[in-house]
Amino acid sequence: MKTVRTVADVRSALAPLRAASKIALVPTMGALHAGHVALFDAARRVGDVVVASIFINPTQFGDPADFSSYPRDESKDAEVAAAAGVDFIFAPSVDELYPSGYATWIDVEGPALGLEGEFRPGHFRGVATVCAKLFTAVAPHIAFFGQKDVQQVAVVKQIVRDLNLDLEIRVVPIVRDADGLALSSRNARLSSEERARALAIPRALDAGLSAYRERRDPVTAARAALSGLDVDYVAVADFDGQPTLAIAARVGRTRLIDNVPLVAKASAS
Ligand code: PAJ
Repeated sequence: MKTVRTVADVRSALAPLRAASKIALVPTMGALHAGHVALFDAARRVGDVVVASIFINPTQFGDPADFSSYPRDESKDAEVAAAAGVDFIFAPSVDELYPSGYATWIDVEGPALGLEGEFRPGHFRGVATVCAKLFTAVAPHIAFFGQKDVQQVAVVKQIVRDLNLDLEIRVVPIVRDADGLALSSRNARLSSEERARALAIPRALDAGLSAYRERRDPVTAARAALSGLDVDYVAVADFDGQPTLAIAARVGRTRLIDNVPLVAKASAS
């Protein structure tokens, strides 16, 4: 596995491989866990060359304290990525992607409005901009994203369509801990008492899914199971034709998101 830190270096590393190999990109912000590894595994299965980007993107954080306290452990990330069969880590500096004078932003409407877009103003502008930059730097044939961030998937698919980017987006199901909590780099911030309270989120999704199947209102059922948490939203949204129950809630100072598709999709996207 090789680590490259500039756009020029990632381009020259991949140039000789491009014609004969399918290049798969997994964008991440590091603090790698089994959810990220599921994306690397999926990328390894269909790609010949797997590139993991590790870049804590300052422009998608509303709160500077959230950005500065985001977990960072580059050497452990390198071990996890190497063990998962990643070939290249692309880990640029903030100055490499946003040099002084940087002035171009991608503002997505449609799927970026509402939910995370409402509660984290500017978040998807940062996500869309950095993903477009990663896509042009790496020029992958295929890129992998997690269902965990379902609205992010919809936003990324929208920019690929709207900007005629020549790559395919694949989605990997949510990886959960044994207790049901969706894996997230932010879970490390939960105390054991907070973690126990956070389990109301997957329970609320289960309650919502059962309600939906029994023709009751999934949002009402999920909200009832979340009492005691500081809820940003509980909503059913249509992502790419797939109705999905989505929750964002705060447990102490940690904000968690999770979701469940209400109807199984006919074919993998
Ligand atoms: P990050 O939070 O590091 O997540 C990287 C990818 O891993 C995302 O596609 C996310 O949906 C996926 N992921 C995270 N937890 C998961 C889980 N429990 N199961 C399955 N997949 C999971 O999302 C970002 O970084 C950034 O916004 C990024 C796309 C890199 C742009 O900066």
